[in-house]
Amino acid sequence: MPVPVASAITAGEARPTERPRVLSGVQPTGALHLGNWLGAIRNWVALQSDHDTFFCVVDLHAITVPHEPARLAEDTLSTAALYLACGIDPQQSTIFIQSQVSAHAELCWLLNCVTPLNWLERMIQFKEKALKQGADVSAGLLDYPVLMAADILLYDADRVPVGEDQKQHLELARDIAQQRINARFGTRGSDGELIPILKVPQPLILTEGARVMSLTDGRSKMSKSDPNEGSRLNLLDSAELITRKIKRAKTDPQMGLEFGNPERPEADNLLGLYALLAGRSRAAAASECGSMGWGSFKPLLAEAAVAALTPLQERYRELRDDPRYLGEVLAQGRQRASAVAAATLNRVRQALGFLAST
Ligand code: ADP
Ligand code: TRP
Repeated sequence: MPVPVASAITAGEARPTERPRVLSGVQPTGALHLGNWLGAIRNWVALQSDHDTFFCVVDLHAITVPHEPARLAEDTLSTAALYLACGIDPQQSTIFIQSQVSAHAELCWLLNCVTPLNWLERMIQFKEKALKQGADVSAGLLDYPVLMAADILLYDADRVPVGEDQKQHLELARDIAQQRINARFGTRGSDGELIPILKVPQPLILTEGARVMSLTDGRSKMSKSDPNEGSRLNLLDSAELITRKIKRAKTDPQMGLEFGNPERPEADNLLGLYALLAGRSRAAAASECGSMGWGSFKPLLAEAAVAALTPLQERYRELRDDPRYLGEVLAQGRQRASAVAAATLNRVRQALGFLAST
């Protein structure tokens, strides 16, 4: 297969001004699920045509909690292949692996040295994950949001599409750029105006599909870290497994599917999933399933899930059967990302007063 990838831009080349830049990423920690797709990756696909899009697999983030070395490379590759299978197009987007662009770790260090410790200690995700880790919390876990800030700031990203849960991390990235780098190290133009060093990014919090809930508890988020496999639909689950998981999904004693009843979070979640997977508007799904019992609704939902995931799984298999193609996409992505990242890192190094390397 030929490698249809975006042409490499070299450092210093002007970026296309009319297209805002977007950067996002997902950690390669185990199988991606429906929440990752509907809440994140599916929305990236829609941004590609009118944004300059960068998508990375954030493998350095994946080692902030204990990980299995034997699985990291495979999970990284399979996550990248899933990006492509979900419709991220290497001709339109730069797809790369975070750890292969060393500027991420370097900028993270520079940002570490200007970020107040107490900004990190109050991050909700850190507190939640630290609780789960018990005594074995790494400095990397505390530093997670600074590395994420480096990911974003290196690419002068205008917008960062993320789920609700990442909003606080994005605010931190904005504060680091604005208050800790630009305000302290930026220079003033002849008109007294501050010349920023780093671009201050805007969050792009996507609402539809933003929160896919667990199949076994409509009040908690579908998540890779839930120990119960039956709580999530993974993108690579077989048709039988999808059908079985949906069959066992939690229900309630009432007839008829509906949205917005606080007493019926499972009905709301599964009807929302049906609308998204079957490509129906919420109103159309609500009227179609409004008087259906769970016994007729569940097979319908399973069928919609299998139909939506089958083409994605076929594309995934093709990509995994052709490791050279994927390797070339990632090599080109790395080259393009490195050029952009090196220019930004250089700006920050200069602003902080480092001796220039010749
Ligand atoms: P998880 O919570 O399963 O570990 P990650 O934290 O790696 O997933 O999230 C990767 C991306 O997927 C993020 O942008 C996040 O907002 C999105 N995401 C994760 N779970 C869900 C969900 N249940 N519903 C919607 N989006 C989700
Ligand atoms: N922390 C993000 C998450 O858990 C993943 C991530 C790392 C990310 N770096 C990023 C998302 C940069 C957007 C931009 O989902």
